[in-house]
Amino acid sequence: MAMYQSTNRLAGLAIATLLLVVVYSAYSNPIDRDTAEQKDSVVDRERQVEQRQRELSDLRRELSLLKNASNTRAYPEVKIRNEFDRKRILITGGAGFVGSHLVDVLMRDGHEVTVVDNFFTGRRKNVEHWIGHPHFELVMHDVVEPYMMECDEIYHLASPASPPHYMYNPVKTIKTNTVGTMNMLGLAKRTGARVLLASTSEVYGNPTVCLKAMQSIAFAITVPLRRRCPYVHPQPETYFGNVNPDGPRACYDEGKRIAETMCYAYSKQSGVEVRVARIFNTFGPRMHIGDGRVVSNFIIQALQDQAITVYGEGLQTRSFQYVSDLVAGLIALMNSDFDEPVNLGNPDEYTMIDFAKHIKEITGSSSEIIHKPATQDDPQKRKPDISRARQVLKWEPKVSVLDGLKRTIEYFRHELSAPTTRDENKHSHGVGGPYGNTIELPYINDEKKP
Ligand SMILES: NC(=O)c1ccc[n+]([C@@H]2O[C@H](COP(=O)([O-])OP(=O)(O)OC[C@H]3O[C@@H](n4cnc5c(N)ncnc54)[C@H](O)[C@@H]3O)[C@@H](O)[C@H]2O)c1
Repeated sequence: MAMYQSTNRLAGLAIATLLLVVVYSAYSNPIDRDTAEQKDSVVDRERQVEQRQRELSDLRRELSLLKNASNTRAYPEVKIRNEFDRKRILITGGAGFVGSHLVDVLMRDGHEVTVVDNFFTGRRKNVEHWIGHPHFELVMHDVVEPYMMECDEIYHLASPASPPHYMYNPVKTIKTNTVGTMNMLGLAKRTGARVLLASTSEVYGNPTVCLKAMQSIAFAITVPLRRRCPYVHPQPETYFGNVNPDGPRACYDEGKRIAETMCYAYSKQSGVEVRVARIFNTFGPRMHIGDGRVVSNFIIQALQDQAITVYGEGLQTRSFQYVSDLVAGLIALMNSDFDEPVNLGNPDEYTMIDFAKHIKEITGSSSEIIHKPATQDDPQKRKPDISRARQVLKWEPKVSVLDGLKRTIEYFRHELSAPTTRDENKHSHGVGGPYGNTIELPYINDEKKP
């Protein structure tokens, strides 16, 4: 009996052991365990792949939307040129008033244009119709820092141009015109590009010549004061100028004078090809609404039926050229073989008082014309002698002041009615102001200047 019991116990033990072995082997077989883990990871991977596929198809959809958008974007028509004909052109200050019109003409002519601008007075809006075009690049950059690119031509326009803008930060104006110009000449030296400097009639200052005879007492007694220092009028390129180096305009006037000097130093010493345009007062659409010079100030005041302010008696003169004429002159000069300075302006000359009356009449404004005290270093006579441009470039202005004014008045009328005008003015650097022959411009829409 005892033996039967022990045999049963042994058999029970053996079965239990067997069961344990079977269960253990079922759950602990390494091959099966690996397989299960692999299955899990395959499932995970499949999920990941599905997720990525979804992301990819989303991206594809976005891309095709973007492609469609860019395909349907309309650009102004451009001329088709082959690789050899097409120039790579850098325009500094290309988002500004003159620069943006130059961009338009060069782009339409089929060239590749890169604009470098720090947007101090320039606006993206001025060139936005080219953004995305394969021939066009807009780079936010300050020319005081070096800039590198391969190019064939450089139109160097970067510099504030109106008195309130260039007097806002005189040291920066000097740096832009000196260090900035040197950077562009350095780039031209490295790439072999030709550089055109946008200089200014301001290099002539208040264009008087003081006669040597003046030093004699007899002369001083006998000759009336205003005839002792006669005006050089109109101003030819051979006139060396009469600039006050310490006055409020000096940062700009002397900045441009040294910029010209640098051009000729680089030309002589390093063989850089330079062109120097001495630009006289220019006006037209895309002028900054806070430009502060006489054309925009008179128009804005007249359109708002505010007093049109003339500084001094208003007998000082200016001559005005329409922007399309200037752009044609700049391109003609760049493409010419002539490397001495060339005046670009319209000799049609007005006294400020007559000009104020003229604008009042064209706009049909009820503004009254008022006088304020004359300002420091305001040039009394300004009229270009353009015989050189006529002779070497076969260039002369084509748009009459009246036609140009009509287009410009339309532009300002639109700007004043645009909802962004108020905000843009808040950011402009010194609207108007009693500088040169500019007038103090009340803040647009009667807002108080902050
Ligand atoms: N408009 C005129 O009547 C006139 C007359 C004489 C000379 N000029 C010259 O023509 C050029 C263009 O004048 P505009 O009337 O178009 O003036 P603007 O102020 O409209 O344009 C100047 C452009 O240069 C940019 N700029 C200024 N400083 C810069 C810097 N450090 N780096 C990069 N960009 C900078 C501004 O943001 C702007 O886009 C200027 O060099 C000016 O001196 C103009």
